[in-house]
Amino acid sequence: MIHPEYQQWRLDTPQQSLVLSSENAALPTVIYWGSSLPAAEDLTALMQMATYDINGGSLDQIAPLSVCPQASEGFPGQAGMALRDAQGKALWTNFCFKEQTLHENDLVLRFHDENLGITYQLDIVTDTANNLFTLSAKLFSDPAIYIDWLAAPVLPAPQNSDHTLEFSGRWCGEFQLNIAPWSAGCRLRENLLGRTSHEHFPGLIMPTTNADNNSGSAYGLHYGFSGGHKMLTEELSDGRRQVQFGHPTQSDRKLTNSFETAPLYASYSAVGLNGLARSFQGHLRSAIVNFPDANKPRPVHYNCWEAVYFDHDIDVLKDIAARAASIGAERFVLDDGWFKKRHNDLSSLGDWVVDKAKFPQGLHPLIQHIHSLQMGFGLWFEPEMVSEDSDLYRSHPDWVLGPLHQVQGRQQLVLNMSLLDVQNYLFTQISTLLSEYPIEYIKWDHNRVLPVVDAAQTQGVYSLLDRLRIAHPNVEIESCSSGGGRADFEILKRTHRLWLSDSNDALERFWMQNNAALFFPSEVTGSHIGPAHCHTSGRELPIAFRAWVAASRHMGFEMDPRELSDVDITIIKEAADWYKANRHWLHNGFIQRLDCDDKAVLGEIQLAADDSQFVAFIAQMEVSAQTLPRPVRLCGLETDSMYNISLRNPQDRAPTSRGAPVLKEHNITLSGQYLMQRGISLPVAFPATLWIIEGIKA
Ligand code: DGJ
Repeated sequence: MIHPEYQQWRLDTPQQSLVLSSENAALPTVIYWGSSLPAAEDLTALMQMATYDINGGSLDQIAPLSVCPQASEGFPGQAGMALRDAQGKALWTNFCFKEQTLHENDLVLRFHDENLGITYQLDIVTDTANNLFTLSAKLFSDPAIYIDWLAAPVLPAPQNSDHTLEFSGRWCGEFQLNIAPWSAGCRLRENLLGRTSHEHFPGLIMPTTNADNNSGSAYGLHYGFSGGHKMLTEELSDGRRQVQFGHPTQSDRKLTNSFETAPLYASYSAVGLNGLARSFQGHLRSAIVNFPDANKPRPVHYNCWEAVYFDHDIDVLKDIAARAASIGAERFVLDDGWFKKRHNDLSSLGDWVVDKAKFPQGLHPLIQHIHSLQMGFGLWFEPEMVSEDSDLYRSHPDWVLGPLHQVQGRQQLVLNMSLLDVQNYLFTQISTLLSEYPIEYIKWDHNRVLPVVDAAQTQGVYSLLDRLRIAHPNVEIESCSSGGGRADFEILKRTHRLWLSDSNDALERFWMQNNAALFFPSEVTGSHIGPAHCHTSGRELPIAFRAWVAASRHMGFEMDPRELSDVDITIIKEAADWYKANRHWLHNGFIQRLDCDDKAVLGEIQLAADDSQFVAFIAQMEVSAQTLPRPVRLCGLETDSMYNISLRNPQDRAPTSRGAPVLKEHNITLSGQYLMQRGISLPVAFPATLWIIEGIKA
């Protein structure tokens, strides 16, 4: 049957289908999002099946949960846009289909409101290789209007789901996973902190009932913006559910003729959360991060922050650099404290010139020494900030963002990055240093929340980064914001590494890394061996645990190497050598989270892209409830393939371990089926033990 009143669009990856349908030229609705539909599926029949009944107490039509639900259509929940004219009067849009462009699998749809002169544009780009869609919405208006809210294309949330998984966090505790049960009404998360933030990572996982890391269906979303966001999940009284992401509502207050949301990355997995992790990690690798030299392996870092803090003495730094190189470092990053009068965090931000008292001949002698040790050199900046006690503030108090009577953060103020003068100043300061010195790496920090939420601030930072990247294309950049306060896909279009957390406590770091792996692959996730006595938790953890947690991502050191014993050095060298020998496949592979049956154990497996080998990192996080370790089930292996597996570090077993689990002494060959179904038996372990199990396909 032909239904001229319906228009449909279908987008596919090998694992999922997304079908949109529009009735009578109205804004389209996602009528199917899930596992791939057969090619022969009749999309009109899908539309017919998606048509709801009408019950008592309802309006006479069920308003569509479209890609931008409209209050003017009687939508009974949160609308996807809120617009006002220049006088502040609410605008009620009535969009009608205008045109479409479909290139391969990339879709652009435009809908126009004749009366108001406003166009809504929906863009969907399909990454077939990584099973992911990138969606964004744009508005164009002939008269200038206020856009109080525009959601990225709105997606229906599954009704066969008990809860969503949200992210929260804090300084030294990023990427905490929270269960948010579905219930009637709207749940709103709005990040008004002006940066991606520790508190509200802009991601959401929607598992269907009983889904876990490795089974069941799940939907994953990430809003790629570094200036905060608003996310809402809503269950309507008729049972339908929606999820919306967009900029924070207060971040774009100006009259405008156009607006574009940030990209919303969306994926569906029929194989649990790990399918989503694979999609996000793969998409980030192939479409987001742009390394100056893709063939250059990720070097082992040494960062001097926790060794010396602001106390920069050139002889001490040279000594530390030599020791760092001898244990495997390949890049030395000079952290905070190198610039004019910066002796603590009370002053100097903005004055980006080398401190002559600490470095009388500039940075050249230190850099030459570092180069003589075969290491590259990196330098810390915090460009968006200014200290009240600085030459910059004294000459430009007018460059500060927000009111001058604001409460400061880390005794510092923020520069108004939307001002071209500010961007030009910072570009010149940073570019001059990058031209004068052979700096291959910037650690770009951002140590406070903003006094006001303002998207123009974020766009200003992006512009500055873009300009610097063009002028200095070989310089890599790390995104740091008191640790992981600015970790998102949009900043990673301009940077190459995330400083995931200021916590170098390896127990804390391990679970943070495990959760962050839902979105971020190994090669962009920085992880350092911190001091023996952890500066942020006060804990003392075994060197083997600290070393191997760091080796499981983009490895680095941050302890004072002068504190290391011979045993420490041997263990660190072994981990660094292993990292160097394996990074070529680890940094093209995929991290998958294990479903551990012992709640005191947390684990992951990293699989080579060609499935030829793997390494599993299995951490004893606390004391188990039962006497003996439960078998650990691996995942992501080929059921019929045989794997030769070995335990790299049987010596790390607990002193109470008296039995003979085979891996204590021998390698063994087992099928993927067995390893995933029954799992491996490990020796007894004390908390803060990290088992390293390596597997090669036989
Ligand atoms: C916060 C960062 O996260 C630390 O690693 C360090 O760079 C300090 N800032 C320096 O002030």
